[in-house]
Amino acid sequence: MVEAEARGRVPIAVFASGTGTNLQRLMDVEQEDQAWPAQIRLVVSDKPDCLAVARAQRAGIRVFARQPRDYPDKAAFERDVLEVLRECGIAWIILAGYMRIIGPTLLEAYPNRILNIHPSLLPAFPGRHAVRDALAAGVRETGVTVHLVDEGIDTGPILAQTRVPVDPGMTEEALLERIHRVEHELYPQVIRALLTGRLSEKRREWD
Ligand code: GAR
Repeated sequence: MVEAEARGRVPIAVFASGTGTNLQRLMDVEQEDQAWPAQIRLVVSDKPDCLAVARAQRAGIRVFARQPRDYPDKAAFERDVLEVLRECGIAWIILAGYMRIIGPTLLEAYPNRILNIHPSLLPAFPGRHAVRDALAAGVRETGVTVHLVDEGIDTGPILAQTRVPVDPGMTEEALLERIHRVEHELYPQVIRALLTGRLSEKRREWD
């Protein structure tokens, strides 16, 4: 991307712990869409060996990937993360499969500036195993939620939700794939609306 294009874009950091398909989608949109309002300047991970880190490295994006257990506590880990976020001039933190609770250090530095995507219709099925939990509960419908992050586990103001049907006898793998397809559409739409100040106008479409 040429410098001039990058200039008007909002600097974001994507946090990821897993396969990084949502990260990949955001990287692809950034490359493909001239009007896309964000630029991924940093990828943060708590799992240095995860696929999301490899995807970021392949794309030439700066990566901060360290194990929190190598630090005395969460605050010390987040202080290190914060230093890099500031160095990169990050305005928004986008969680994309980041499987850790964000602590006060980052919440206070980025109040209402941390976004999360979650594979259920919150407040149903918060936590790490939302897809498995929905299947175990026998629901006929689950979904995807995008919300601002607060100090709770998958709580915080909901910005958008999309329903996803669950077929009888569906495997976790099949449902996850269906959910991923929805996430890859919804997350860029919400980020675009948020960063271009058109969130309230778009919200009606997602409800
Ligand atoms: C996504 O389905 C995301 O909603 C979920 O992790 C997956 C990451 O997939 N997040 C949570 O469960 C957060 N509580 P990806 O690494 O392929 O983007």
